[in-house]
Amino acid sequence: MTEFLINGGRKLRGAIAVQGSKNSALPLLAAALLVCGEVVLDNCPALSDVDAALEILTYLGCRAHRCGSAVTVDATGMHACDIPAHLMKRMRSSVVFLGAILARAGRAEMTMPGGCMLGPRPIDYHIDALRALGADIDLCGDRLLCRACRLRGAELLLPFPSVGATENAMLAAAACRGLTRIRNAAREPEIVDLAGFLNAIGIPVRGAGTPVIEITGGSRPHGVRYPVMTDRIAAGTYLCAAAVTGGEIELTNANPLELRALTDALLRAGCTLTVNGSRLRLHAPRNLRAVGIIETGPYPAYPTDLQPPLLALACTGKGTSIFLETMFASRYNHIEELRRMGADILTDGRFAAIHGVPRLTGAAVSAPDLRAAAALVTAALGANGETTISHIDYLDRGYARMDEVLSSLGAEVCRREF
Ligand code: EPZ
Repeated sequence: MTEFLINGGRKLRGAIAVQGSKNSALPLLAAALLVCGEVVLDNCPALSDVDAALEILTYLGCRAHRCGSAVTVDATGMHACDIPAHLMKRMRSSVVFLGAILARAGRAEMTMPGGCMLGPRPIDYHIDALRALGADIDLCGDRLLCRACRLRGAELLLPFPSVGATENAMLAAAACRGLTRIRNAAREPEIVDLAGFLNAIGIPVRGAGTPVIEITGGSRPHGVRYPVMTDRIAAGTYLCAAAVTGGEIELTNANPLELRALTDALLRAGCTLTVNGSRLRLHAPRNLRAVGIIETGPYPAYPTDLQPPLLALACTGKGTSIFLETMFASRYNHIEELRRMGADILTDGRFAAIHGVPRLTGAAVSAPDLRAAAALVTAALGANGETTISHIDYLDRGYARMDEVLSSLGAEVCRREF
């Protein structure tokens, strides 16, 4: 087990380059299966979820290795098309290997994926989309058996703009003869990054970032060197962390447009934000204000992954902030732990009302999932005294050496391994 010991109250100051995006790197690694040849992903974050994806690729028979921030995958020797349960259960993103393995091998076998416990996370939209592209899929308990003699392009209409279902459909469509049109597709920047990758390996994709994506499949993909986009969720987390300390930080490689929903909330809280190209600078006031009403939703609405860190910030914002979590049924796992630190929060189903208190107090808390862990770190940085956060292994799934990044900004964070 790993824990963080944080001595709160130090202002974060300085500049950082934000890591590559976890939620983009994982589908890109799956997409590398489409290519018989070498794919190099630059700016690939060093995370335990990325390690899990590399283990899946290795199990399937690919060559996969990391050299610094670049990961090289060569799927020429792929010989398996099943993923064992212990690899599937390590993360939710293992499910995007389904579309990629089907596209490459015409069959796939796996169990249901794991991932953070945020309430029910079915994969019915994924399965329906792949069936519409010509796959036969049997569900036997926890096992998925998929076969596709011939995948063919089709018109797909997703019931909800699911990120994972859009990615799976795009990956399978790469091997379909003809045109696939995905309507009500997810518009997240990570989808645009995946489309950029597919275009770069020779699969024409149009419309990514809009609700209608068109993929012309069937051509033979070739190797490529491709940079993973900056992690907008990590970027937003560091902005929240700096703001609770009354600090001043600069992100040197951000995409401010992707962070718009968060930066609007930070402006309401009294922060000053300045943009110069990809440089985004935040200057926080001594005392924060409430953040107003935050309703999570599919991009470009407020991202559910940044709800926990902003909610932690709202705990010391003067006034009342209201959160409505629409994406996941159980994404308030951090609230009970924040209460241990003195937060005044009322919840009713998907609503949470946060009455700002002047200061939180350090306590012993336990991280229940990845973004909840980020919320607890955020709260601890602004709190009086010492906070111990256990189960930091969750944090390491999505944030590359967060303790070192925060220390470089002046925080007092110590990692302890047991
Ligand atoms: C992706 O998850 C992200 N994960 C999540 O980030 C993120 O919170 C989420 O998108 C929303 O932005 C990765 O990219 C690896 P969805 P995903 O399919 O693809 C329901 C993090 O902390 N749904 O868009 O699983 C589902 O239950 C993670 O980094 C179905 O009902 O999200 C949810 O309520 C957590 N049936 C909603 O749609 C389906 O077949 C959105 O899920 C698929 C989804």
